[in-house]
Amino acid sequence: MQIRQPIVAVLGHVDSGKTSLLDRIRGTGVQGREAGGITQHIGASFLPTETIKEMCGPLYKKLEQSENKVPGILVIDTPGHEVFTNLRSRGGSAADIAILVVDVNRGFQPQTNESLKILQSRKVPFVVALNKCDQISGWRKSETPFITQAIKEQDASIQTDLDQKIYDVVGTLSILGYKSEAFYRVEDFKSEIAIVPISARSGVGVPELLSVLVGLTQQYLQKRLDQDEKEPRGIVLEVKDEVGLGQTANVILIDGSIKKENSIVVAKRDAVIVTKPKALLLPKPLDEMRDPRDKFKPVPQIDAAAGFKIASPELEGVLPGSTLYVAKNTEEIAKYTKLIESEMKSVFVDTETNGVVLKCDTIGSLEAIVEMLKRSQVPVAKADIGPVTRHDVIEAKAIKENDRHLGIVLAFNVKILPDAKEESETSHIKLFEDKVIYSLIDNYNAWVEEDSA
Ligand code: GTP
Ligand code: MG
Ligand code: NA
Repeated sequence: MQIRQPIVAVLGHVDSGKTSLLDRIRGTGVQGREAGGITQHIGASFLPTETIKEMCGPLYKKLEQSENKVPGILVIDTPGHEVFTNLRSRGGSAADIAILVVDVNRGFQPQTNESLKILQSRKVPFVVALNKCDQISGWRKSETPFITQAIKEQDASIQTDLDQKIYDVVGTLSILGYKSEAFYRVEDFKSEIAIVPISARSGVGVPELLSVLVGLTQQYLQKRLDQDEKEPRGIVLEVKDEVGLGQTANVILIDGSIKKENSIVVAKRDAVIVTKPKALLLPKPLDEMRDPRDKFKPVPQIDAAAGFKIASPELEGVLPGSTLYVAKNTEEIAKYTKLIESEMKSVFVDTETNGVVLKCDTIGSLEAIVEMLKRSQVPVAKADIGPVTRHDVIEAKAIKENDRHLGIVLAFNVKILPDAKEESETSHIKLFEDKVIYSLIDNYNAWVEEDSA
């Protein structure tokens, strides 16, 4: 069995400390250089085994004995203001496992719930990092990097306080159908979610967090990580024009390998694109792709799992969230073109039936919202990417004549064009706008309920 690096997504509410946690592990200062201290785009960085070993210290001994030792970790940093829906992979997730970061003094917040819903619907296992323990009032700073030791050094009242905060999380998770416990009380890691108190600032608890994470991965995820007979594929996170490189795509390679001479197959809105990379560019280990300390290195081949950049003039207009296939010959090009076409067909909705009109920013959010609407039994007439146009409103208007609760437009993280706004006002078509998926759906459902009363 040849095991690849697990892809670990770090999720949580805005400012819960996701980037700070990764900075602490990498020894970087990415968070301090972000505009307004806010993560704007998904990032990725590779943590080599050496780093994990160093961080875990004596805890690494047990991990090292595993037959399925992981060759490092690919961590994905996500913006809290936006969910990580684009880490999609054929209706599931590109993430093998996740760290859900929760601010210990704030508990669950809107994007914590949002992240959890996506984890739940895409069946991604996760651990909870209860961050900012150093900010618990009365918390005594100590020298140890191990949280179990640091807790023992606290006054009894602080220990009780922390326990209370842990049980608040346990309570919230149980409402959502999860069993969870502080990691040092977990008996069965397969059925209970481990909660690890940490401080990204002081680093306490990070060794335990990493060792729980790697332990879970080595024990339960071998099948996913095994590279035998896996089709090479990845996911496009972002496409942009870069000085000196031209059009580039930030890509996560999930399985297999890509060579410079291979063709890649990706999706635009109305076409499948086949192109050869002008360059494959790999960031250095421990460098954040969004903010590397060193230049990306041009390489002839990349093996999963990895975050990297592809340069090619034909990438312009490729959809964020598109699957990327690697083709070695014309038969494979034909096969993957068909696959992407059928994937796109299943993502976009365009029917004659009565249903709501939905416009989204990316394939990932579109897929997630359609899925959630389906679960709340709301039919969808049209679901597409891009701004809300006058045409969308006119479509909703026609639907309203048959069903006044379905004749509306849902807009997720997209602009509403001025003539669309005007049309909605003159035709009294309701527009629901939001940047948080579940409040978009909740607000719509609440309106339907109120209007039916
Ligand atoms: P977004 O990417 O914007 O969603 O935020 P984030 O989750 O990446 O949080 P970030 O790392 O930007 O941290 C937010 C703020 O919390 C920063 O001012 C950090 O310095 C602070 N912070 C993060 N972790 C800790 C911690 O463990 N203790 C304390 N005291 N502050 C922390
Ligand atoms: Mg961040
Ligand atoms: Na932040």
